[in-house]
Amino acid sequence: MCGIVGYVGEQQARDVVIEGLRRLEYRGYDSAGIALIGTADGVLSTDKRAGKLTNLEKAIEEHPLPPATTGIGHTRWATHGAPNDVNAHPHLGAHGRVAVVHNGIIENFARLRDELERAGHELLSETDTEITAHLLETEVESGHDLTTAMQRTCRRLEGAFTLVAIDAEDPSRVVAARRNSPLVVGIGEGENFIGSDVAAFIEHTREALELGQDQVVTITREGVAVTDFDGNEAEGRRYHVDWDLAAAEKGGFDWFMRKEIFEQPRAIADALLGRHDEDGQLQLDEVRISDGELRDIDKIIIVGCGTANYAGLVAKYAIEHWTRIPCEVELAHEFRYRDPILTRNTLVVAISQSGETADTLMAIRHAVTQRAKVLAICNTNGSTIPRESDAVIYTHAGPEIGVASTKGFLTQLIACYLLGLYLAQVRGNKYGDEIAALVRELAQMPDKVQAVLDQAETIYGLAERFQDARSVLFLGRHAGFPVALEGALKLKELAYIHAEGFAAGELKHGPIALIEEGLPVFCVVPPRGRDQLHDKMISAIQEVRARGALTIVLAEEDDPEVAPYADVLIGLPTVPTLLQPVVATVPLQLFACELATRMGHDVDQPRNLAKSVTVE
Ligand code: G6P
Repeated sequence: MCGIVGYVGEQQARDVVIEGLRRLEYRGYDSAGIALIGTADGVLSTDKRAGKLTNLEKAIEEHPLPPATTGIGHTRWATHGAPNDVNAHPHLGAHGRVAVVHNGIIENFARLRDELERAGHELLSETDTEITAHLLETEVESGHDLTTAMQRTCRRLEGAFTLVAIDAEDPSRVVAARRNSPLVVGIGEGENFIGSDVAAFIEHTREALELGQDQVVTITREGVAVTDFDGNEAEGRRYHVDWDLAAAEKGGFDWFMRKEIFEQPRAIADALLGRHDEDGQLQLDEVRISDGELRDIDKIIIVGCGTANYAGLVAKYAIEHWTRIPCEVELAHEFRYRDPILTRNTLVVAISQSGETADTLMAIRHAVTQRAKVLAICNTNGSTIPRESDAVIYTHAGPEIGVASTKGFLTQLIACYLLGLYLAQVRGNKYGDEIAALVRELAQMPDKVQAVLDQAETIYGLAERFQDARSVLFLGRHAGFPVALEGALKLKELAYIHAEGFAAGELKHGPIALIEEGLPVFCVVPPRGRDQLHDKMISAIQEVRARGALTIVLAEEDDPEVAPYADVLIGLPTVPTLLQPVVATVPLQLFACELATRMGHDVDQPRNLAKSVTVE
């Protein structure tokens, strides 16, 4: 949610900043802007445009900005104020000396705005950001350097923010600050970078510095200095980014999302790597909760939003079955407001691809205050949610750029299975050979997902057939129910059509009234090993078909019982029931991606969405 970039070095800052914004555009694309300090004249020049980054690029081509080696940039997901040119970042101080970009929400901005206006400041935009530019500029005009000005300003701000600022009278530095919003520093030679995440500078350096809460960082050509908001020296955590530029490019695919769907076999293999020994016994080394504490856990609550929440719903089936620990799943933004019952024996599992989703972060903070143990399942190294958790299982999916999550989801499922089996192992709920057998099944998942991907052309044909559909339903039972929800979410996010997922058993209690002639209904059929579930799902398919629905049935490839009821049959590899979501989700991802492509939508950047939602 909002991408921010800062640069100081020897290259043309314009190019570095625009390239960084391109890689961060998935975080928001309501507007884009840049501010540079001209090398020759030390004058601040800015350009900012509503709409996607290409609008800004065109504007800069028509009206080039002067050469500069210090600059900042922003790509916006609007919170305060409409997505127009005026509200676009950067924002300037009253005399155009300081420029600021911001991600987050400044909660006390109305009060600060009043105060500034009473002091004679004229604010041009509706944003909460502009006040920070005025405050910072007032500080530098009274003689403080930009670093001190930032510390003094941040002490007055409430809410969540990452700010990055430049001062025309000091082109040697870019200063940034963070509270509850993401910010990383890229460490180069003779140049340094700031970004919302490492994608902003990955083509220049893979050395990164993760900042802590309430810290200010100053980058110059020569180095990086970190302090807290009071000006005391502080330290960030340095790390090496384990993926490179190629991973952040489309690699011949039309969309990042399609590339990420096809990367899933590799992503799953990476998620499993090093997590078990030759005997199939699990080793999760990022879990810093003792075995004794894990044995005392008497309740698990899984929190997450969007796709991550659906991964949690799948996890509930597996974890309860394998460990017999009661497990609840809750939308992160609902969790803390119902005053959940948490004790030191509760394990709260936070699932988040980005590790920055504000709703999920606030949920774990609540859990920490209640002394519950917190374990994060996360894809982004160094992000806030794992940092504030007692334990983390990284999903190792590599960068996910498409706004709609795909490989993020499948690897979250894998991490949830690993967690469930690990708990079963530590608590002695399962024999070692039972765990080893399930680990062997997991190890086959990359090939099985690949087998589904090999049917992509068939699924694309389905998208062609249904490209005029205005409504699509998804049915599943048991672990197939969250798959139905995820299939529907993908279609809503990408194709902007009515799509709903239902538990098939619920059909007769209402949703069946929606069925009409020709309505496409995707049906996820459990493997035959679970006879009751399997047969009940077939009954549901018959019920919708009898009322005119067109059934697209996802079932085991050699399941003879479903064929008579399927208008279209998509064969899934044979897997245990609890693991079926891993293979069953893939056709639904492919379908949504292809349908949206055919409808002419921007698959990677669907309207109104942002990948990482860092406001509550
Ligand atoms: C946003 C995205 C969704 C994502 C959700 C949770 O709403 O648009 O695709 O599932 O955030 O994101 P997280 O990074 O916490 O997994």
